[in-house]
Amino acid sequence: MLEDKINRIYSEFEKDIDGVNDLKKLEEIRIKYLSRSGLVNGLFSELKSVPKENIPFVGKQLNSLRQNVTDRFNSIKSEIESQKTSTDKDFDLTLPGSEIRLGSKHVLTQTLDQIKSIFKGLGFSVFEGPELESDYNNFEALNFPADHPARDMQDTFFINPKFLLRTHTSPVQIRVMQAYQPPVRAIMPGRVYRNEAVSSRSYCMFHQVEGLFVDTDVTFAELKGTLVAFAHQFYGEELKYRFRPSFFPFTEPSAEMDITCFLCKGKGCKLCKQSGWLEILGCGMVDPNVFQHVGYDSEKYTGYAFGMGIERIGLLKYGIDDIRIYFENDLRFLKQF
Ligand code: PHE
Repeated sequence: MLEDKINRIYSEFEKDIDGVNDLKKLEEIRIKYLSRSGLVNGLFSELKSVPKENIPFVGKQLNSLRQNVTDRFNSIKSEIESQKTSTDKDFDLTLPGSEIRLGSKHVLTQTLDQIKSIFKGLGFSVFEGPELESDYNNFEALNFPADHPARDMQDTFFINPKFLLRTHTSPVQIRVMQAYQPPVRAIMPGRVYRNEAVSSRSYCMFHQVEGLFVDTDVTFAELKGTLVAFAHQFYGEELKYRFRPSFFPFTEPSAEMDITCFLCKGKGCKLCKQSGWLEILGCGMVDPNVFQHVGYDSEKYTGYAFGMGIERIGLLKYGIDDIRIYFENDLRFLKQF
């Protein structure tokens, strides 16, 4: 009877498909059962021989056989396909591996590390201060009285009338002197902010390293000697330098240090504005008014201070022609260092 055949074919199908896990074998099973001349369709053609009154019942059984076989077939098929994508068979072990690039320190950090290590070798310790500073530490204690025109040298981001984003690292001098009695010999690196028009030469945020030495009998000659020793170690022994008189409210006398232009070796070019010299830092002897603000005896102690921009050093040392590139995190730039 047809009903028996239906059951037999279904259990034969179950036996055939059990444990199959490659698509070629599965295709053979599809042809055997589900193709046009396969076993399932073959049963439909036998429907003719079934007594008329049984046709609806047997027809239903045949339809559900076809449905069950198709469903089971499809589920096994998708199982095999999903396994396939996750097996090793798809890996081409002969392909070259993808490169894992090691990260490295940002060029500014590298420059700062180098500056720190030179000054540590000269007996300086390292201090840091906050980027959000009081007007008092950033200006007042550094001998910039309120309304003094020298405040215009540094366009300031004020948070409120009393607090601001520090415009230089010099306020850390005040913090160090408030916390320690002389002798103090320290460098103070950090971020500073200025409300300047952003261009290839200036940015609203950059980094400085401040230096301070206070003791009895500190002289300008020692300041010069220290900065020349630094410059020789940092830029090379053959470097030429000069000190030019300058002005800062918190140092007296004040100077700026220039070194021979890297690019033209002193002949004059665009980088050095045809002068042959590049300015690398500001410096001077700590003004007695500053000592008064921190409670140091200005009759007893003298000191020197200096400050340099880290970005600027890189601009000069590596010939970087746009300061903004430091902060864009472009890997094509970063991986060159
Ligand atoms: N703070 C000064 C500036 O930002 C640099 C400086 C530091 C000058 C210490 C003298 C002494 O321009």
